[in-house]
Amino acid sequence: MTEPHLKKPLLELKNLRSYFKFHGVEPSKYLDQKFLEYFQARPSYEPTEFEKQAREDYWSVGREKLIIDGYDYTYEQNEILIKAVDGASVTLHGNESLSIVGETGCGKTSLLFSVMNFPLPHHSYKAGEINYYPTDDNVPVNLLPLSDKEMEKYRGIHFGLIPQLPKESLNPWITVGFQSGEILLERLSMRQEKIKEKVIEFLGKVAIPDPSISMEKYVNQLSGGEAQRVCIAMALLGDPRILLADEPLASLDTIIQATVIHLLLELKKEMKFSYVFATHNIGAAGQLGDVMAVMYGGEIIEIRPTKEFFEDEPLHPYSKGLLHATPWYALRKNQPLKEIPGELPKPYDWPTGCKFHPRCPSATAVCKRSKPPRIQLDNSFVECFLYA
Ligand SMILES: Nc1ncnc2c1ncn2[C@@H]1O[C@H](COP(=O)(O)OP(=O)(O)OP(=O)(O)O)[C@@H](O)[C@H]1O
Ligand code: SF4
Ligand SMILES: [Mg+2]
Repeated sequence: MTEPHLKKPLLELKNLRSYFKFHGVEPSKYLDQKFLEYFQARPSYEPTEFEKQAREDYWSVGREKLIIDGYDYTYEQNEILIKAVDGASVTLHGNESLSIVGETGCGKTSLLFSVMNFPLPHHSYKAGEINYYPTDDNVPVNLLPLSDKEMEKYRGIHFGLIPQLPKESLNPWITVGFQSGEILLERLSMRQEKIKEKVIEFLGKVAIPDPSISMEKYVNQLSGGEAQRVCIAMALLGDPRILLADEPLASLDTIIQATVIHLLLELKKEMKFSYVFATHNIGAAGQLGDVMAVMYGGEIIEIRPTKEFFEDEPLHPYSKGLLHATPWYALRKNQPLKEIPGELPKPYDWPTGCKFHPRCPSATAVCKRSKPPRIQLDNSFVECFLYA
């Protein structure tokens, strides 16, 4: 029988091993026999420097909330296949914020919508896995095979979605209050008086003026910023564990953008959810995310903690290009603004090998031929031959 004082370390070791296995890494490469002996032989558990380092390197152990693994999403239009998401893999941890950045059409919305697992549009296909951890017992549910009915217990309650176009997503025929409360009535069967109370509370949380009056308004009576905040309130009303925010700043002026950024950070602290924030705006991504994920041509080509991304520079040549093409960064570094050369290829006609090779200043022959592998460097991942 396991000694009680060894239960915790052994569980941690087990988690660490399953984490390696899950990611297709041979555990013994990192966890040598010595590590095992430490756990089993010592009477009281005090991690050694080696163990501390191992745990720091694999800080994600046991904290996963959502693992998107080799996910593909393809649309077919006029017999042309568009791979909007191409083998994307990324992990969101509990209470973490993940910013996904990339140019228009790189697949941000397609990826976020895939987590909601909405019924597929005509002629579209998906593959891979989206594993969600509804509880802390480390048992994931792969969302993709679930039916629409089965997904209902997750949508709005486990996952809240802030859509990219707030005004277009709200129903123009019913009041803001009524549509905000629908989720509480339909999924959580709450009583009318309680629903009204909660809607007023949440409209207040997102700083909608006079919530009890504003809830009687229709969408055309809201400003763009107010509509955005109503969508944030609606996404949060079901008390989700993961908030999926798709360009929540796009239709706002810079002052309101700052207010919404502040609001999201405060709400995250108060409500303790994790979120994924998709945007073109690399500066906002840095303010809102603990971790940055960069997408290009439907692929996630870099994942890097935000601090390292901005302070030590990104790793992938495309991510570097994005950062150096940002006016505030050029100003901060006292450097001229640099454009990424070339154009974004058509979504149905990506180049072979590394999709970025026609625009990459460091491209070599192998980049044109083969797809770069995913390399792990400390807490970052990068898909580029420069690091292979
Ligand atoms: N319903 C659809 N049918 C066909 N193609 C689609 C559909 N929705 C998206 N696409 C294509 O999939 C690719 C990814 O689109 P997506 O909207 O996910 O990108 P995005 O990164 O969110 O872009 P943006 O920054 O402009 O919002 C694009 O090439 C787009 O044209
Ligand atoms: S794999 Fe090659 S082409 Fe692609 S980003 Fe790296 S160096 Fe550039
Ligand atoms: Mg989008």
